[in-house]
Amino acid sequence: MRTVLIIDKETEMHESFRVIFGASYRVLAAVSGDVAMEILQHESIDVVMLDMATTGLEVLKDIRNAYTNVNTIIITTIKNINDAFEAIKMGADDYIIKPLVVEDIQPTVDRLFSSKEMRREMVSVCSESELELNIEFNNIIGQCPAMQDVFSTIIRAARGNLPILITGESGTGKELVARAIHAKSQRNTHPFIVVSCPNLSDTLLESELFGHEKGSFTNATDKKIGRFEQAHSGTIFLDEISEMGLPNQAKLLRVLQEYEFLRVGGVKTVNVDVRIIAATNINLKTAIAKGTFRADLFYRIHVVPIHLPPLRNRREDLLHLVNYFILKYQKECHSKMKKIHPDAMESLGKYHWPGNIRELKNVIERILTLYGDQKTMLYEHLPEEIRRSNNHVTPLQSLNVMKLLETSSMDETVSSIEKEIIENALQKAGGVYAKAAQFLKTTKRRLKYKIDKLGIR
Ligand SMILES: Nc1ncnc2c1ncn2[C@@H]1O[C@H](COP(=O)(O)OP(=O)(O)O)[C@@H](O)[C@H]1O
Ligand SMILES: [Mg+2]
Repeated sequence: MRTVLIIDKETEMHESFRVIFGASYRVLAAVSGDVAMEILQHESIDVVMLDMATTGLEVLKDIRNAYTNVNTIIITTIKNINDAFEAIKMGADDYIIKPLVVEDIQPTVDRLFSSKEMRREMVSVCSESELELNIEFNNIIGQCPAMQDVFSTIIRAARGNLPILITGESGTGKELVARAIHAKSQRNTHPFIVVSCPNLSDTLLESELFGHEKGSFTNATDKKIGRFEQAHSGTIFLDEISEMGLPNQAKLLRVLQEYEFLRVGGVKTVNVDVRIIAATNINLKTAIAKGTFRADLFYRIHVVPIHLPPLRNRREDLLHLVNYFILKYQKECHSKMKKIHPDAMESLGKYHWPGNIRELKNVIERILTLYGDQKTMLYEHLPEEIRRSNNHVTPLQSLNVMKLLETSSMDETVSSIEKEIIENALQKAGGVYAKAAQFLKTTKRRLKYKIDKLGIR
């Protein structure tokens, strides 16, 4: 059974904890820091709970230094919440606020173990044979419910010929999904043609899409077959369709309605049988409101919409994706990497991934190239922007402000935190305003103003 050591000068508290932990943990108790250190020398302790009114932060420091494997939980009052803040900075694992809420205590301790157990374990990269490659779906990784929906839409959509609109931020896999639809459709023995709309001016895009007749404009020395004709019997993927100009939109609408068009400078209608898949990373409704996108075209391509969620909302897929890319690029990068340190994984999980899966892929490739001679991916191997973005705990997280908000308003909560901080500084400064202002990195005038406003004496 795991053992909890309580440090509290009040012996009634020892009894309370024995009752609370009952059958779950063995409880030992000490009335002072010295007694606790004695016990720690002779007993194997899993968690120490320190009452701040009994011991100071010094005892916490001693325990942290001498017994690195022991978990520590601080017990303090809301008035001395700064102690908890300091304690967390010194490496305490959690804190509990007095008066104790009996139901909160055991979960706090339990949580410690579940997260600790997870933390200690390296995450192993699975082997190529274990990796459940979604070959059926073009190796698209997606365990999260939103992606499971996408897969079933892919199957349904692949059967028909309706136009498809794929939305999602850049790098979320829109092209990959378009290819999967084509691959699963009856058109899969015919071409899959990609046209990136933003890369070309309106006139060039027109001749790219629809082709031109010889002599139709100055440089048109030969007849050109456009992408629509090349895609005949297959699929055309129109990437970033919002960037297509209005005249080309009109022509595209006609293709969608009649499956026919004229080459630039041509007089004979050309008929095609093409599946159209369009993609956009901007909201087309906004573009319609601005007048840069035709509403009738939107409704025509919006028949089967597929939305791809950003990576930051697909936490459950992150490990699978990391795994997949480590295996995918190991040969190319001559990499031996087989494990991921939990700190590295945690950090990847906290990052907001503006470039989505494309960015993740690049990050993994870069790590394998630079550190592929090492077995384990470490936090230190991550690019600086990822480490920088998440290695600080926000005050909100560390103070558990959300809990305070359950019982008081935002203004009251902010004031009470301010009050605590100032009172604490005044105490440390022995009541000298100038010194307290120094601690708080503010001016004496501003401090005085706050003291008056908050009614601190
Ligand atoms: N779910 C996924 N599983 C595996 N690789 C993916 C996934 N989504 C995207 N990728 C990869 O990420 C990169 C960007 O995908 P892409 O389809 O070009 O995104 P988009 O068209 O939305 O910008 C590609 O290399 C692609 O293979
Ligand atoms: Mg793309």
